[in-house]
Amino acid sequence: GRSNARTFKVETACPGTVSYADILALAARDSVNLLGGPSWAVPLGRCDAMFSNATGATTDLSGPGSDLDRLVAGFTAKGLTSHDLAALSGAHTVGMARCLSFRMRVYCDDDISPVFASQMWQVCPSSGGDTAVAPLNSVTPAEFNNGYYRGLVAGAGLLHSDHELFNNEPLDTLVRLYSANGAAFASDFAASMVRLGNISPLTGATGEVRLNCRKVNS
Ligand code: HEM
Repeated sequence: GRSNARTFKVETACPGTVSYADILALAARDSVNLLGGPSWAVPLGRCDAMFSNATGATTDLSGPGSDLDRLVAGFTAKGLTSHDLAALSGAHTVGMARCLSFRMRVYCDDDISPVFASQMWQVCPSSGGDTAVAPLNSVTPAEFNNGYYRGLVAGAGLLHSDHELFNNEPLDTLVRLYSANGAAFASDFAASMVRLGNISPLTGATGEVRLNCRKVNS
């Protein structure tokens, strides 16, 4: 569990030295790598925040029904590019989404593989069953590779926001490249993860190294 993350060896070796923010960035890197994805050097030295911002998580992240303009705008507001958007969305190579998040996509979008849509109808009823889940990447759901992009090209993007990356607009070229060239995806993903992890890092007096990941130090 998260609250037990301090059983990490870093805490016994160097008490109060490595922040949870840094541990999370390292764990993300290692999770990707353990599933067959790339690895990268994670810049360290983040502090943990003194307060949390639950509403920011909703207002600053675009929802799964967003169109491409909105997705790009959300990334631009954080100093990331549409190229980062195309590469980082490849994290949807693993993990699940709830019916609630993709119902509109599989019942209302025209631009979807009919076979894929009818498979999703089996999982996700047109009403009710909001919490039923399907893999974000039905091609290779448990591997970190470019299967997600192969799905997009085949009209089998699960979220509307996934499909928006391959909708006859500028990012189609990148999606095609990633779908054909796993090494190009792996290398762009790693570079974009470093940029993602460097968004306004908290350092110095405004933060702290938490002793318990669930609360500020007293
Ligand atoms: C580009 C805009 C993005 C949108 C609109 C988006 C949206 C979503 C949604 C709706 C879900 C399913 C949540 C649910 O139904 O409960 C999801 C899952 C997930 N997303 Fe994203 N996402 C985006 C970008 C990213 C990025 C940049 C990453 C990481 C680099 C990421 C990693 C994941 C992972 C790993 C899951 C699976 C979680 C699980 O299985 O528990 N997503 N995303």
